[in-house]
Amino acid sequence: MKYAFAMIAAICLLAFTQNNCSKPPRLGKDPIKKVIAAMTLEEKAYFVTGTGMIMPGEKNPVPAPGAPSVGQTQSFVPGAAGTSDEIPRLGITAMVMADGPAGLRISPTRKDDKRTYYCTAFPVATMLASTWDTDLAYKVGQAMGNEVLEYGVDIHLAPGMNIHRNPLCGRNFEYYSEDPLITGKIAASMVKGVQSRGVGNSIKHFAANNTEKDRGALNTLVSERALREIYLEGFRIAVEEAQPWTVMSSYNLINDVYASESHDLLTKILRDDWGFKGFVMSDWFGGKNAVAQMNAGNDLLMPGKASQAKALIKAVQDKKLDEAVLDRNIERILAVLLQSPRFKGRTCSNNPDLKAHAAVAREAAADGMVLLKNSSATLPLSSKMKGVAAFGNASYDIFTGGTGSGDVNKAYSISLAQGLKEAGFTINKKLQNAYDEYIEKAKAARPQPQLFFPQAPISEMPVSRALAAEIASAADVALIAIGRSSGEFFDRKEEGDFNLSKNERDLITNVAGAFHACGKRAIVVLNIGGVIETTSWRNLPDAILLAWQGGQEAGNAIADVLSGKVNPSGKLTSTFPVRYRDVPSAKNFPGTRIELDDRKAAGKNNADARDEIMNPKASRIAYEEGIYVGYRYYETFGLRPAYEFGYGLSYTTFEYSGLSLSSTTFTNGIHAAVTVKNTGKAAGREAVQLYVSAPAAKLDKPFIALKGFAKTRMLQPGESQTLEFDITPRHLSSFDPAASSWIAEAGKYEVKIGASSRDIRQKASFKLDRDLVVKKESVALVPKAGINEMKPIRTVLQMRRPL
Ligand code: BGC
Repeated sequence: MKYAFAMIAAICLLAFTQNNCSKPPRLGKDPIKKVIAAMTLEEKAYFVTGTGMIMPGEKNPVPAPGAPSVGQTQSFVPGAAGTSDEIPRLGITAMVMADGPAGLRISPTRKDDKRTYYCTAFPVATMLASTWDTDLAYKVGQAMGNEVLEYGVDIHLAPGMNIHRNPLCGRNFEYYSEDPLITGKIAASMVKGVQSRGVGNSIKHFAANNTEKDRGALNTLVSERALREIYLEGFRIAVEEAQPWTVMSSYNLINDVYASESHDLLTKILRDDWGFKGFVMSDWFGGKNAVAQMNAGNDLLMPGKASQAKALIKAVQDKKLDEAVLDRNIERILAVLLQSPRFKGRTCSNNPDLKAHAAVAREAAADGMVLLKNSSATLPLSSKMKGVAAFGNASYDIFTGGTGSGDVNKAYSISLAQGLKEAGFTINKKLQNAYDEYIEKAKAARPQPQLFFPQAPISEMPVSRALAAEIASAADVALIAIGRSSGEFFDRKEEGDFNLSKNERDLITNVAGAFHACGKRAIVVLNIGGVIETTSWRNLPDAILLAWQGGQEAGNAIADVLSGKVNPSGKLTSTFPVRYRDVPSAKNFPGTRIELDDRKAAGKNNADARDEIMNPKASRIAYEEGIYVGYRYYETFGLRPAYEFGYGLSYTTFEYSGLSLSSTTFTNGIHAAVTVKNTGKAAGREAVQLYVSAPAAKLDKPFIALKGFAKTRMLQPGESQTLEFDITPRHLSSFDPAASSWIAEAGKYEVKIGASSRDIRQKASFKLDRDLVVKKESVALVPKAGINEMKPIRTVLQMRRPL
């Protein structure tokens, strides 16, 4: 008996010790679910809430260089935007996340480290989209992705995909277009390029985050149709075509619910309707209620605060949050983490091929430039014209990109003057000296900016008629660079930003006048990140080159185009309206405050930028223009823009011919083909656009909508290429909120092949015999009260007269 007892006791002891000493499961070796089961509640709550960050104004061990942004982390990769928690006992490694759309943003220098960690500043997103070249976007993505990998970052917080609803949005430069198709296609290519390197993307800011002011408390009131057709469509394309590892939810509310707390947005639409497989992270400090965020499917809260983790623990203990929700979210994060380079033990070289990437940046910048005007073949500059007078601050002090989290810490930037010199031009020395001196003094006189504020731009150097005349007699040609910068936290202003300042107007008038008086030409180079007014001054110069913000190689790329080494082939992805008030959202931008601003009452009057940004006041914005955003509005409501969507000149000409459709009746799809011939004297490429005009029966329709685009290869003079397009049921359909479905209405459809939205070169039509329900979607994001949307007048629609 005694013996039996001893045996039982021994077995029990063995079992007990084995149980307690058995190794915990490890991620990668054991099933994810088992790993999660081994996590404590605290571990779970801290895991879904990131590791926090150092905010500007707090004691930073290393000062954050470059433009200010929300903050940075010092762990793993200094200057990255955030890091997820590691749990070594379970084999869970950290994931490092860093911005942004124009290139990787990390600190270029590190404490007690002599090495540098510069990244390539590529052209801004709007410029990349202006190439209309998905292969090039892929190539840029590959280069960016390589820097992400080699600098030890796991997730790249890009691309930005919000729609250019209004030209004054301060972050438009980080976004692609006013049109969701080109947005989605360029983003999908970019994501494929980045992710081909074995790192992930976080496409952002999901969704309808089209204003910076009060972005953290801005309630966007928008119809389901406008959401689905305009603001979500680009994201859908990117998710379905490229499966980004993660999606970043936006700061704003959509129809009364924070995007990061919206189950409709993050689960019904993103996962159920579109089949998204990765995880969702919040924008930095976005949303208010961590429990609601978890339930909505916002799996990771970034950069994470201890208060959020504590709230989650309490909610589980109080039975207000099901622990299974945390488990589900963690499972999604871990599934991505398994693919991450840090988890795989990939060591980073910290030595990407910056030289090769600079060449990609230069190529993309040259290809994204849009030639807006070129009277009497002013450009390219003839080989005899070597003496250039470069006017405008931006000739010497170029804007390579915007400010905030979309900024890049690059090793150098090439100014326009430098680029021209490199290309063999001579720059008028007297003028250069005047500008150098002026810029240096003006910069030194600038007050230190407040936290979060970028340095104020300096005002344009005044150029008198006398000075312009003196220079005109000595130079062959004048360049007048007009520069703009904008960025995170702030929207642009109409006066002195959208519209030119007085000094800028005088500059163009005086210089163009003086050069014309000597029989010489004047060219305006727009070094800008977003749309500006052009109608009031565009008759003055002989040529206008929209050079955007071209990244670190901007000056070289501009010289490539001015000299004719590269034939411009970029086209606009957003309309340039005649005046700001023509913009359909002008009366609803920015939002209106609905919460009293006690800071103002206390006489502070927005003095404390940090408070203004960290504690935004509740505001609302109504998207009354509905689906009529950008060219959809101008074309349907009959307003002539300054430069239309899709517009851009070339140094050669193209002829379009032979549009053929595979059928005149639509069943499942139609194949279109068109031939483009280079009929000019220079080799060049052409971005060809396919628009569809759909019948307006039950639903209003825009006059035209972009449904496809393609870019020719380099065509030599006389050479042609046939481009092919597939028109799918989806392309014919509109979102009908009553049925929560994409419906293609029966009737006649017109296919219009254009060099721009207003320069339609070939037309053909087909019919659809009966209504098609193309896809049924979840009922989601229904506005509580109706939105007072503008509607086109039917008769105007039916006449469909070209402007
Ligand atoms: C921006 C994001 C960015 C994040 C991390 C936020 O302020 O809105 O675009 O990725 O900061 O830097």
